[in-house]
Amino acid sequence: MARFGILTGGGDAPALNAVIRAAVRRSLERGHEVLGIRHGWKGLLTRETTPLDLPAVSGILHRGGTILGTSRTNPYKRAEDEKRAKEGFRALGIDTLIACGGEDTLGVASRLCADGFPVVGVPKTIDNDLSGTDVTFGFDTAVSIATEAIGRLHSTAESHDRVIVVEVMGRHAGWIALHSGVAGGADFVMIPEVPARIEDVAAAVQARRGRGKSFSIIVVAEGAVLADSASPVVKDAQTDSFGHQLLGGVGERVARALEEKTGLETRSVVLGHVQRGGTPTARDRWLGTMFGLVAADLAHRGEHGKMAALRGERVVAVPLAEGVATLKTVGRDLYDDMKTLFG
Ligand code: F6P
Repeated sequence: MARFGILTGGGDAPALNAVIRAAVRRSLERGHEVLGIRHGWKGLLTRETTPLDLPAVSGILHRGGTILGTSRTNPYKRAEDEKRAKEGFRALGIDTLIACGGEDTLGVASRLCADGFPVVGVPKTIDNDLSGTDVTFGFDTAVSIATEAIGRLHSTAESHDRVIVVEVMGRHAGWIALHSGVAGGADFVMIPEVPARIEDVAAAVQARRGRGKSFSIIVVAEGAVLADSASPVVKDAQTDSFGHQLLGGVGERVARALEEKTGLETRSVVLGHVQRGGTPTARDRWLGTMFGLVAADLAHRGEHGKMAALRGERVVAVPLAEGVATLKTVGRDLYDDMKTLFG
């Protein structure tokens, strides 16, 4: 019998609870003990834990967020935190730690492994920008929510003959913007990978007017960069413990520029954390469950330094370092292909 720890770090994502539930159920079935580490890596510093038995993971499959809580704590940011986290790891007597997170959390997991700690990973982010896996859970839910919102905005935009700019999440990658924009019938999609000129967006709006369509919907990823600017629009110049700035405001900036260029009344809407909240889709619950089972299998077999990953229709184990090596961004070819649907 072994003792496994499980933690969730970084921004929450729908279906984290499906991962926890599956990993715990499979581990308990094998006679192991599972300890939940509270609030991501912070829980290793504070040693705040909660036992995960069957009642603890009952009734959580459909719930959004994470029952363990999360944080953006980086234990490698300060030497004293690194020391405390490593001491905490040892003191908790964990044989394998299952870390669920995105590039930052898995980056820490990979580093801890290199430092000799037994860790396995589960890739998580609504942004879907992790290179090691075809898809991350949470993405499908976020795209569904954004698509529904874009659909709803159509009727009010049409009633008022307005342009509505919808800002969605996506710090480095435009997956949510592109998928929801295409599925929602947006007239232009702006993503971080392809800087767009306001003139081109305005031209798409005008072309629609020429075809008798008096309204337009523009989807913009929060990390989108305008062609005449070198960097994304930030809400706050401060960075978090992983060095990320708080993005936000590009939608409003695009709206003002479009209004000026086209003379059309323009509004902006920021979907923000609504995209991450609430119940996960069936697809995300399925993927989270598969990831949880594979992570528990890795822990059981002592295959440290690996993470669960979707490859085609199968969930397999890949090296943690591979999963966080590069970001998976939208390719120019795919974006250009979808441009047929703009305007
Ligand atoms: O990384 C996922 C993500 O949802 C990004 O799309 C977004 O920029 C960020 O998290 C928001 O972070 P926070 O929850 O700290 O505001």
